[in-house]
Formats: sequence, C-alpha cells, structure tokens
Amino acid sequence: MSNKIKSPDIVWHHATVTRERRQQQNDHKSIILWFTGFSGAGKSTLAHCVEEMLHQRGCRTFVLDGDNVRHGLCGDLSFSIEDRSENIRRIAEVAKLMMEAGVITLTAFISPFRSERNKARDIFPHGEFLEIYCNCPLEVCEQRDVKGMYKKARSGEIKEFTGISSPYEAPDKPELVVNTADERLEHCAEQVLALLSQRGVFVGN
Ligand code: ADX
Repeated sequence: MSNKIKSPDIVWHHATVTRERRQQQNDHKSIILWFTGFSGAGKSTLAHCVEEMLHQRGCRTFVLDGDNVRHGLCGDLSFSIEDRSENIRRIAEVAKLMMEAGVITLTAFISPFRSERNKARDIFPHGEFLEIYCNCPLEVCEQRDVKGMYKKARSGEIKEFTGISSPYEAPDKPELVVNTADERLEHCAEQVLALLSQRGVFVGN
C-alpha cells in the first residue's frame, strides 16, 4: 500500500462537525467491521444481514462490497497481487472517511493477504478495526459455487482465482471467527452484534 503523497502543498482542513459530534448525534460509535474470507464464504451475505439488524436498531451503516466497488471506484483494477493491494488500500481509505462520517462501516472483500489487511488496520485508531474471518473451507465454497466462478477457475477460464490459482492467507488474530460453513446466518450475525456490544459501540444502550 503506497502512502506517498504526490503533491506536498496541501493543508488539512479541520471540520467543526467532528466524528465525536456525529457519534453523539447518532447515539452510537462508528467502527469498521472488516469481513475477510474466500469468495462464496458468505462475507457479503453476513455483512448485509448485520447491517439490516443494525439499521433496525436505528444505527447509521454502510456496506462496501467487493463486487460492487469493482464496478466503479476500483473498476480499473485486476486480480493481480498489486491490484488487489491497491483495491484494499482504496477501500480502507474510503472506510476511514465513512468512519469519520459517523457510520458503522462493513467491508466485504476477500482481502486475501495478511500484510494488506494489516496495513488497512494500521490506518485506524487502535481497537476500531474489527477483523472478522468468515471461516468456510474452500471445498464448501467451491461446492456452493454460487456465481459459477470456481468452475471457470478450475478450467483456467478465470486466472489468479483465490484459493485455486492465487493464495488466501487466513487471519492470525482476527477479532472474531464466524463459522459460515455450518452456523446459521442469524447466529453468525448475532455473534457480530455481540462483539459490537462488547466494544461499546451502542453508547445509549
Ligand atoms: S480482493 O482479492 O481484491 O479482495 P474482491 O473482494 O474485491 O477481491 O473481489 C472478489 C470477487 O470478485 C469475488 O467474489 C468474485 O465474484 C470476483 N472475482 C472475479 N475474478 C476473481 C479472481 N480472480 N479471484 C477472486 N475473485 C474474483
């Protein structure tokens, strides 16, 4: 992840409506929920289920989803190691802006490399980046093959496919591991909500 700034002649402008004031108004803290796992592990499904539950509690939320973001902001990026790193760098920066905006931000990207996830973590204050490993074995994801991509990856039609022809590094110390292969969706979502409670995200209750 490159943090080099090309134009040095820029000055930070401080907002009067700060993150703290937004959090106060929202009655909850903003935080990052960073879901990682294979394609088909259930990251997006879980992120949207958690978002739905949070929304029903009156929280401000947003999901940044791999497939969607690659249609726009990251439409110029491939699945090479370099481009995946750039993908994660951009998402982390967008997530940081959303956090400043007072939003509980859920990101659903394979984000296969530990080093890149750690670089993303490093741009957030300590304790405000919660890595959630959607633990679902490759065999199960491949059997599900919701988008038919594993089949194409096996036949070589899709190159550099995570788990088949490109690596996935499971997190060492995620804040939460959810067993998306066997556990019910709602149960996984409740585990995420419990983590948020533990972390004091719901200030008012
Ligand atoms: S990441 O590796 O850069 O984090 P990201 O989450 O944005 O990946 O995109 C993953 C999604 O893109 C997958 O769910 C799948 O639908 C699609 N995809 C297309 N080509 C590939 C590939 N070569 N490897 C992994 N996913 C791919």
